[in-house]
Amino acid sequence: MDCSRGIRVTLLLLLVASLVVASRAREAQPLPPLESAAAAGSNRRAPERHGLSLDFYAKTCPAVDQIVANVTAARYRDLPAAGPAVLRLFHHDCFVEGCDASILIAPTGGAAGASKVERDMEENRNLPQEGFDTVEMAKAAVESKCPGVVSCADVLALAARDYVQLAGGPYYPVKKGRKDSKVSLPGKVHGSLPRANSTVDELLRVFAGKGLGAADLVALSGAHTVGFAHCVHVLGRIYDFRGTRRPDPLMDARLVKALRMSCPSSGGSARVVVPFDVSTPFQFDHAYYANLQARLGLLGSDQALFLDDRTRPMVEELAGNKTRFFQAFVASMDRMGSIRIKKGKKGEVRKVCSQHLLAA
Ligand SMILES: *[C@@H]1O[C@H](CO)[C@@H](O)[C@H](O)[C@H]1NC(C)=O
Ligand SMILES: *[C@@H]1O[C@H](CO)[C@@H](O)[C@H](O)[C@H]1NC(C)=O
Ligand SMILES: *[C@@H]1O[C@H](CO)[C@@H](O)[C@H](O)[C@H]1NC(C)=O
Repeated sequence: MDCSRGIRVTLLLLLVASLVVASRAREAQPLPPLESAAAAGSNRRAPERHGLSLDFYAKTCPAVDQIVANVTAARYRDLPAAGPAVLRLFHHDCFVEGCDASILIAPTGGAAGASKVERDMEENRNLPQEGFDTVEMAKAAVESKCPGVVSCADVLALAARDYVQLAGGPYYPVKKGRKDSKVSLPGKVHGSLPRANSTVDELLRVFAGKGLGAADLVALSGAHTVGFAHCVHVLGRIYDFRGTRRPDPLMDARLVKALRMSCPSSGGSARVVVPFDVSTPFQFDHAYYANLQARLGLLGSDQALFLDDRTRPMVEELAGNKTRFFQAFVASMDRMGSIRIKKGKKGEVRKVCSQHLLAA
């Protein structure tokens, strides 16, 4: 990997270190009683579960969780960046036509005569290769023990769970029984995923389209407690917010300054990345929410959650209670992992995750 990246990230962290102290102090304050995110979530109609179950492979591949965990743990030691990459893949998979591994089908790269797939779309072009490689490695390990049984969609769901825990987050049981899709539809990508500059209205609409509510939006956004964004997604906020030629007034001035050092307004490396969670970028914790309270959110779509009356109470609740965040995150991951599951003949179980069964 590009070694200047590590140096630049470190610089940014040093510059914002003083801000973290301030946001920690805020976190310690008692919070007013608020409507809980769980209560808000439980009133909503849950998406259909399509018979996913914890013991789906009890007879056919009983050790599947452990086989995947072996790969993810080894991989995490060598390449921590694989963690956020896999989490992001799972999200991009589930939000486009459901959790069916359609995101894993290899891009055509514009090859003549090849029909495009989800990965060819702009929204998916900079999904890190580490994520795809990790899922493929875990799938290969599973195939060696129980060939032709476990879907790539399930392997991805398991690997995402493992990485949450490896980074310090909660462990939770993953329901299984998803089939892989027989198609990967590029036309379904646009409008199905949140964007870096989405408003809360847009975010709520995108989530509602998946059967998810405001509580899920706030809890799942907490995945930004780990991971990095490319500069292109913050340039508008730090140089020319909505055509004002000034930074976003709702970003802490010290963060603006720090980000400008990593991300020049033009001519910067397309490979430089900056952390979503400026206080603890490698730790799966609830600091993301305290950062939003302190105007240290990286993306406009992060900071917006604290600025909007509909989502702010939940941000405050999760900022004040890590246990509560873990509970809410686990519940929302389960709901996200249940979106539009393919069963039976509507799906396949691929051998290699990047290729449909018949094409292989
Ligand atoms: C996990 O890895 C360990 C050590 O390499 C090995 O002994 C064990 O059999 C593996 N377990 C599974 C289920 O693959
Ligand atoms: C958000 O960003 C996209 C590009 O990623 C751009 O096309 C769109 O105009 C932006 N929307 C707003 C409201 O700034
Ligand atoms: C934090 O949340 C947990 C789980 O919802 C709850 O049991 C606990 O009482 C909360 N702690 C505080 C200090 O509010």
